[in-house]
This record gives sequence, C-alpha cells and structure tokens, in this order.
Amino acid sequence: MSHPSVSSGPSGDLVPRHIAVIMDGNGRWAAERGLPRHAGHREGMKAVREIIRGCIDSGVEILTLFAFSTENWQRPEEEIVALMTLLQIYADQEKEELREKGVEVRVLGDLARVDGPTHDAVERIESATRGGAKMRLNLMISYSGRADIVSACRALARRVRDGTLDPDAIDEETISDDLLTEDLPDPDLLIRTSGEFRISNFMLWQLAYTEIYITPVLWPDFTREDLLDAVVEYQRRERRFGRISSS
Ligand code: IPE
Ligand code: IPE
Ligand code: MG
Repeated sequence: MSHPSVSSGPSGDLVPRHIAVIMDGNGRWAAERGLPRHAGHREGMKAVREIIRGCIDSGVEILTLFAFSTENWQRPEEEIVALMTLLQIYADQEKEELREKGVEVRVLGDLARVDGPTHDAVERIESATRGGAKMRLNLMISYSGRADIVSACRALARRVRDGTLDPDAIDEETISDDLLTEDLPDPDLLIRTSGEFRISNFMLWQLAYTEIYITPVLWPDFTREDLLDAVVEYQRRERRFGRISSS
C-alpha cells in the first residue's frame, strides 16, 4: 500500500517497533448516534481488529492497547459489566485467528479486580496464543501507570529488606524490569484518539521519550488509514532524546 511521503522524514521509512494506543471516544461515538455507551464499546472492537491487522502487515513488533484503566472502575456498574462481557467475547472470538497469525496476547493490569468469567477468558486467550512470534499484543486491563510503579517499588523494597538487592544497584533497568511490561522496549509511538491531550495514567514510566500522536478520530471510527497517517507522521519526526539535531 503506498502512502505519500512515507520515507521523506528524518526517521526514513522506519516502522515504529512498539506502538501504544489510548483507545478513547467510544462513548462519544455512541452519543452522536443516540445509542447507549456500550454500543460504542462494541463498535470499538472492530477498530481493535483493524489496528491489529494493520500493525501485523506493517511489521510492528509490539502493540499495546489501553482498554480499561484503574480509574474506569469508577464508571457505572452496567458499563463495567458491558466492557468485561465484551472482553470475554473478544477473547473467545479472536483467539484462534490471533494464534494463526502468530500474535502472542498478554493481558496486563490488576487482574485481581476482574470477575471470574473475565479472568478465565484472559487465561484462554493467553494460553491459546502463547509463543506467537510475529507480534506481541498487550491488552492493558485494570491498568494504572502509577500503580505499576508503586508495585515495582514494593517489589524492590522487599528485595532490599531480604538482602538480595543493594539499593545502590538499582538503576532504570531494574525498575523497568519490575513493571508489567518487563523487558519490552518502550513505545516508539503513542496514539490517542478522540482529541484529548492527556496521558490518563497510561505507561507513565515507559512513555518518557515516546512520540505522541493525537487524532480527533473517535476510536470506533479508527481505520488502517488512520494508523498509516500516524506512522507517516512518526516518520517525519526527529527523535532527539535530549541531544541536538544530527543534521
Ligand atoms: C474509551 O472510550 C474506552 C474506555 C475508556 C473503556 P470512552 O468510554 O472513554 O469514551 P468517551 O471518552 O466517553 O467518548
Ligand atoms: C483512558 O480513557 C482509558 C482508556 C482508554 C482505557 P478515559 O476516557 O478513561 O480517560 P479520561 O477520563 O478522558 O482521562
Ligand atoms: Mg474517554
């Protein structure tokens, strides 16, 4: 598929290795149509399929999707139930195709808070896709960037208390390795849909030098072309990591 200026930017035609997405705007998509919020969430599943296929075809190695935040537990019970039910349906409908495509799925977050049937569906999709080598898909459920850092701090503090970790040996890698994303590289590109200019407690540590792309498109309307637009924009960026321009 050709796209204008795909290789004209400083990043050449480099495809981001790791893309993270804040999938936002389902409720507004539904409201615009006079539909209940859960209808927007259901429609959003189509966009999930689209972006996964687009990423596989573009050679993206890791895709991380923010599907439900710790703060989202404060939503009305019926919306939470609808979201968890959709997650179960999604997992069971897609696991076979994802396995065939070589996608390894991991669900990351505070899963102690999710109900039994959702937990079981998470187990099923993770075990069905284990070992997939083409792409890693992280579904962030009941996830909070701050909570993840807190839990890493606790784990490190325990090791110090037990005498197995020297506080002076703690470096950025030690902390990264104790986060839910463990040894994965940081996202190169963060996409947020629905035009909100905020991070909403997503991957606070890992986004330190991620390129951010915000689009007004509501998540259920997000297509493969929107993904390509984001990648093209990424390729136009110059990632300096605090240094000065190389040209
Ligand atoms: C994103 O859409 C999905 C979740 C947060 C679960 P929203 O439900 O936040 O939709 P808006 O932002 O209200 O439009
Ligand atoms: C962020 O969206 C969380 C997810 C996409 C899962 P929210 O809709 O919950 O975030 P805010 O409330 O707009 O910051
Ligand atoms: Mg929202």
